[in-house]
Amino acid sequence: MNRVPRHVAIIMDGNGRWAKAQGRDRSEGHRAGVDALHTMLEAANKLGIRYVTCYTFSTENWNRPQKEIDALMYLIGFAVQRETQNLLDHDISLKVIGDMDRLPASARQALDDCIAKTAHCKYGSLILAISYSSRWEITRMAQRLAHDVAAGRITPDQVDEQAVSQRLCTDGIPDPELLIRTGGEQRISNYLLWQIAYSELYFTDIYWPDFGEAELFDAIVDYQSRERRFGKTSAQVQAENK
Ligand code: FPP
Repeated sequence: MNRVPRHVAIIMDGNGRWAKAQGRDRSEGHRAGVDALHTMLEAANKLGIRYVTCYTFSTENWNRPQKEIDALMYLIGFAVQRETQNLLDHDISLKVIGDMDRLPASARQALDDCIAKTAHCKYGSLILAISYSSRWEITRMAQRLAHDVAAGRITPDQVDEQAVSQRLCTDGIPDPELLIRTGGEQRISNYLLWQIAYSELYFTDIYWPDFGEAELFDAIVDYQSRERRFGKTSAQVQAENK
């Protein structure tokens, strides 16, 4: 228990295939995905994981059929309303990273409402990446830096890692130690590219709706078997941990 990651990022993939395998509509897969998210948050809380960032809707997902986009937006509103009390009970704030301006008013309203109600919570955060992609985020960060330099607020030489981090959506949130992707694909899909520079990666074939407490524990145990060296040698790391 003394080597539990503080922050776990998740790519919740496989809802559509889970539904198809059962002859059901893709939107039913997403509905089951919301339940899986609830289960996973409870399990993460039990372990003492403080930050969970979920890839809920990517910038590229706007290219899906409108019917599926509508179902997902409805579900986002429904899920955050349903989870608000649960977040308050665990002292967890809701944050959203992504281009909120593109969301339909109803989903946005539900998110803003939950963000405001949980803003005082201190234990940790549930971070939903919605209408998010890393390249969008990094481009926006570069624009912000350019504006700040042009306005004389910082000089070009003051552009360092901290200046970059502060202009990303995740300012103030520690980087994830572990990234989990369900659904069998082994790629990052434009997710948290800056933030996962040193994260351990864990891929599982399990579809997201089937990812429960036991599956999260498996991922954490696997993470605990890794040696995180951050560019140092194994001998250096072992000496530091003595
Ligand atoms: C990937 O499955 C999943 C998504 C695009 C959406 C994730 C959304 C949820 C779990 C529901 C809403 C969640 C919240 C937090 C309110 P896919 O559709 O790409 O599956 P496939 O690869 O099998 O087609």
